[in-house]
Amino acid sequence: MADRLLDGQRVLLGVTGGIAAYKAADLCSKLVQAGAQVDVVMTEAAARFVAPLTFAALSGRPARIDMWSAPGGDPIPHVRMAASTDLVIVAPLSANTLAKLALGLADNLLTATLLATPIAALSKPGFDGGVPWILAPAMESHMWANPLTQAHMVALVARGAAQVGPGRGRLASGAMGAGRMAEPAEILAAARLALARRGPLAGRRVLVTAGGTQEPLDPVRYLTNASSGKMGLALAEAARDLGAAVAVVHAPLAVPMPYGVESVPVRTAQQMCDAVLARAGTTDVLIGAAAVADFRPAEAAGQKIKKTPGQEELLVRLARNPDILGEVAAQRAQTGWPRAVVGFAAETQDLLANAAAKLVAKRLDLIVANDVTEPGSGFGADDNRVTLLFADGRQEALPIMPKAEVADRVLAAVLPLLQPD
Ligand code: CTP
Repeated sequence: MADRLLDGQRVLLGVTGGIAAYKAADLCSKLVQAGAQVDVVMTEAAARFVAPLTFAALSGRPARIDMWSAPGGDPIPHVRMAASTDLVIVAPLSANTLAKLALGLADNLLTATLLATPIAALSKPGFDGGVPWILAPAMESHMWANPLTQAHMVALVARGAAQVGPGRGRLASGAMGAGRMAEPAEILAAARLALARRGPLAGRRVLVTAGGTQEPLDPVRYLTNASSGKMGLALAEAARDLGAAVAVVHAPLAVPMPYGVESVPVRTAQQMCDAVLARAGTTDVLIGAAAVADFRPAEAAGQKIKKTPGQEELLVRLARNPDILGEVAAQRAQTGWPRAVVGFAAETQDLLANAAAKLVAKRLDLIVANDVTEPGSGFGADDNRVTLLFADGRQEALPIMPKAEVADRVLAAVLPLLQPD
């Protein structure tokens, strides 16, 4: 299925010599499936591990090795390829080619093409005339640990290249250690992250809260709710794909954090509140998707609570937790940050009236109203039916749709709320 970031992108996939070259075939296939146009350039050594025909068949385009026998007699294939590339991936990247790239050598078609392809600075939004480079080193662990190799990697990363891996594990030599090429899925995720830097949220920070907080009763028991965190993580992914730097302050989750999103784990509402307030001053957009417990056991017992013979009930006194979005509103009134704040209203009755009241009480720009009793929608479900209520009184009722699409719609509604810097 075409991917919204990779679709139509012209990818130069450099493959160098190493046993991991076989995994590059899978990466090539994944890129093509995502809608990218892939031009494979191999070194002579790579072609000893995997035949160029493999890549040609997967990409539907010739896989090139030789500087001097370009198709159509093109005398400067490296320059032409460099000029028509949106993204560079080198996977696997051998110690030898890494050293050449760091030094600016151009002794084969791959190194010559890459020398003619400036690296886009990773720290800046947009590409600034450069092209994102994704490097996936793979080599024997001693070669990787060598200070010379490390210095070459550092030099390229300092110029803006994104390094993916290497991971630890079993190497071709049979030894265990660092040097395994990152998995193709991870390289693809890094490529998407780099391409997103052209998006409308590039240079912006987005903070999302997610999951149901846990309020301890004793060391082994806690009060919580049915929130899965799926909606929050979908929002984080949507913001990341628009180019934002995204962090998620989250209660314990059963689902993994999306690639490229910073995880800020917390447990209780108070901890979530502290973590959010600490970051609010540098956050452009805060989205409160967490299901925050409004009350916590007033005293958490230090030891496991024991029942006594004949005991028929246990009374637990609850104390109020802070209202996180309320605290943020107070801070924002002083500082002007975050620039935009979005809340959720999970309701079981009077959806729109309750949501509108929360929009005002929490001084939000936008609230996402969500009837959690609707079958197939809300807590734990993969779909959601929501209505967007804006501070200016506008309302937008959306049909039931996957949470990922709801997230896209919420982010699309947030973009016009942000003033240009
Ligand atoms: N929220 C918050 N802090 C709380 C409770 C909720 O920041 N202590 C946020 C939620 O993340 C959500 C919004 O406020 O974005 C509304 O949450 P919801 O649970 O629907 O409302 P409450 O404010 O808790 O109101 P009530 O439970 O009385 O309906």
